[in-house]
Amino acid sequence: MEARPYLVLDLSRPLPEVDRTGVRVAREADLPAMAEVMAEAYRGTVDDEGEDQPAALAELRSTAAGTHGPPLPDAWLLAEEAGEVAAAVVCTRWQGLPFVAQAVTHPRWQRRGHGTRLLLAAATTLRAGGETRLSLIVTRRNPAHALYQRLGFTEIPWPEGT
Ligand SMILES: CC(C)(COP(=O)(O)OP(=O)(O)OC[C@H]1O[C@@H](n2cnc3c(N)ncnc32)[C@H](O)[C@@H]1OP(=O)(O)O)[C@@H](O)C(=O)NCCC(=O)NCCS
Repeated sequence: MEARPYLVLDLSRPLPEVDRTGVRVAREADLPAMAEVMAEAYRGTVDDEGEDQPAALAELRSTAAGTHGPPLPDAWLLAEEAGEVAAAVVCTRWQGLPFVAQAVTHPRWQRRGHGTRLLLAAATTLRAGGETRLSLIVTRRNPAHALYQRLGFTEIPWPEGT
C-alpha cells in the first residue's frame, strides 16, 4: 500500500508574506470550475483515481456537505488567471485540526507558485482565526510532498483510531 504520511504545519511560527493577487474565497458557483481543475490536476499522477469533472464535482459537493469534516469556508480559496480558476485549496476540520482536503493547480499553471500562495494564504487566514496547526495527508511519492516539506509541514503519527 502507498505510504500516506500525516503532516502538520505549526501556525505559531512566522509565515512568509503572501501575494494575494488573483486569490479569493471560493463560492458555491465556483465548484464546477474547481472540479475541472481537480480532474485535470490528478490525471496521470500517483493519486489518479480516474475521476472526471463530474466525479470531482460530486467529491467537492460532498466535501462541502461535511464528508471530510466540517468545511472551513474562509479557507476555500482559489487563484484566478485570465478570469479562469487556475488553482484551489479546500480546507475542512478533521480530528480537531484544520485540514487541507484538496490542493490542486491546473497543469497549465503548475510550478508557478499558485499552490504555495494558496496554502500560505489559507494558513494565514486560519492563524488569524486562532488556529494553531494546519494538517494534511499526502502520498509520499506525490511531488506535492516535497512542496509541503518546503513550506514547513512535518510528519507526525496519524491520529489514533483513524
Ligand atoms: C501539488 C500542486 C497543487 C502544486 O501546485 P503548484 O501550483 O504547481 O505549486 P507551486 O508552484 O507553488 O510549487 C511547485 C512545487 O511542487 C513540487 N512539484 C509539483 N509538481 C511537481 C512535479 N511534477 N515534479 C516535481 N516537483 C513537483 C515541487 O516542489 C515544485 O517546486 P519547484 O517547481 O520549485 O520544483 C500541483 O502539483 C497539483 O495540482 N498536483 C496534482 C494534485 C495533487 O496531487 N495535489 C496534492 C494532493 S495532497
